Amino acid sequence: MCGPEGSSQRVRLSIVAPRLVIAIDGPAGSGKSSVSRAVATRMGLNYLDTGAMYRALTWAVLQAGVDPDDALAVTAFIEGERSPWITSGTDPSRPTIEVDGVDVAEPIRSSDVTSAVSAVSAVPEVRAHLVGRQREYVRDSGVGIVVEGRDIGSVVLPNSDIKIFLTADSQVRAQRRAAEKLDGHDASLEATQSALLTRDAKDSTRAVSPLARADGAIELDTTHLTFDEVVDHIVDLARQVLKT
Ligand code: DC
Repeated sequence: MCGPEGSSQRVRLSIVAPRLVIAIDGPAGSGKSSVSRAVATRMGLNYLDTGAMYRALTWAVLQAGVDPDDALAVTAFIEGERSPWITSGTDPSRPTIEVDGVDVAEPIRSSDVTSAVSAVSAVPEVRAHLVGRQREYVRDSGVGIVVEGRDIGSVVLPNSDIKIFLTADSQVRAQRRAAEKLDGHDASLEATQSALLTRDAKDSTRAVSPLARADGAIELDTTHLTFDEVVDHIVDLARQVLKT
């Protein structure tokens, strides 16, 4: 029979759920955000949209009148007295993004921010600043977390339990973006596709942490898969990891 010590230990063990970290990377429009949120919701995990953090910082750069293409000026801004403080809410049913306490969920999707975000996110000091914040969110996430971005499996969290690289044909990605009315414009499908390809090229060729499939990442081409098929696949992988 267990004494008081044994039973309290049993209780403690039973409430400590295994912590799971899932990294989901991929180009714009590959379905990362909706898939990541759905996986997090199904698995009872937190959710972090790192693209929203780069967009929020870019919004702050533009608001401050700093030239987003001037890497030195961007660095001086984020390291200076007016350095913006980015806060992300990690509930997958209601993710939030704030700069110095101001809700910027809507303006970070404007075409101005979308056009400038690749340049700002290529600045090494910007990445160092935000990667630090991202790791803090993961560290503080008791239940585990799904983190989406471009360099999560390769740089931010190379020891993630599961790494996914989501891809899809660029025309399909453009169609999805247009349907979501994201990226702040009602442009034609061709213009949306061309803007996506330009951003992918910038994100994939920058010197620091370019968009790339991480070592050990599972590539999922979602072109011919339904949303539910993609989510089910990742949830199955997560359940297998939890069993081992
Ligand atoms: O996921 P998104 O389209 O909202 O991301 C916006 C930009 O942020 C994207 O063009 C590149 C940058 N980004 C990045 O460099 N690293 C990340 N981990 C996430 C996004």
